Amino acid sequence: MVFPEYRPRRLRKNAAFRSLIRETRLDAGQFIYPLFVMPGKGKREEIASMPGVFRLSVDQLAKEANECLALGVNHLLLFGLPEKKDAMGSGAHAKDGIVQRAIRELKNAAPAIMVTTDVCLCEFTDHGHCGCIIENRVDNDATLEILAKTALSHAQAGADMVAPSDMMDGRVGEIRAALDENNFDQVPIMSYAVKYASAFYGPFREAADCAPQFGDRTSYQMDPANVREALREATLDVDEGADILMVKPAMAYLDIVKALKDEFDLPIAAYHVSGEYAMIKAAAAKGWIDEERVMAESLLAIRRAGADIIITYYAKEMARKLRK
Ligand code: PBG
Repeated sequence: MVFPEYRPRRLRKNAAFRSLIRETRLDAGQFIYPLFVMPGKGKREEIASMPGVFRLSVDQLAKEANECLALGVNHLLLFGLPEKKDAMGSGAHAKDGIVQRAIRELKNAAPAIMVTTDVCLCEFTDHGHCGCIIENRVDNDATLEILAKTALSHAQAGADMVAPSDMMDGRVGEIRAALDENNFDQVPIMSYAVKYASAFYGPFREAADCAPQFGDRTSYQMDPANVREALREATLDVDEGADILMVKPAMAYLDIVKALKDEFDLPIAAYHVSGEYAMIKAAAAKGWIDEERVMAESLLAIRRAGADIIITYYAKEMARKLRK
């Protein structure tokens, strides 16, 4: 078909036609909203570099969860800021740890909300790395046991899904085994299968107080230059029992989202991370872009690239826009 016989503009002539041929749509049912939980009572602290995102104390969670449910956002991703940190990140699997208390509160006060937990040690270690340090290196195999204990403690507190973000080799299999041995075979694993060593996590590290105190994360998170390695990482996680594969960050890695979507038949998630959110907020605050439209276009692009699920700090705002 060539012009003038074929005229693409025929199907763009009004909103009803554009809607008729729209290939991709956003649905709040596929959003996951990250939440930061902190110690104390009555706390609601806005994160300076992430306007509209708050650190909440446990008693504030029910209200937040109900607000999400009312908007059709049914899934939360929990991060915890503990009272105390130590070298081994023992607060991550404490029975009465901040995340465990948050899960119990949420499942008690708003049972319909689905709680996924981030499984990682960096918020709980005094050195800020995602694993324990042995001879000045982040030790892979010694970390696995702690991660499995952490995931199990989340499931025991009532978590609906666990999401390991540490990037240690073999952690998905270790966590799956620990869950299955303890009758949690119904708790899925959303693996941060392909997580890059990215500068886009900057604002998050302020939010969760988890910047590494020495060195960086390049010995465990992936090199942004690699795509074939992403497929190898994802293949390992599939073999170890992952239920959902995540790519992170999202917008600078849409080719990776597409590559995973083409190669695997598991649901694909993409994490629209803190830096991506902060950049839109900052430009909008200067009046340089239309925030609502840039938000919607960004999330749509992530879906179009192949993400079934989007983890985003914009979940509530986008859900509100979708209702209009
Ligand atoms: C913990 C973790 C990080 C993020 C999610 N889980 C930080 C990191 O790896 O440094 C980043 C999320 C975001 O930037 O929004 N390992």
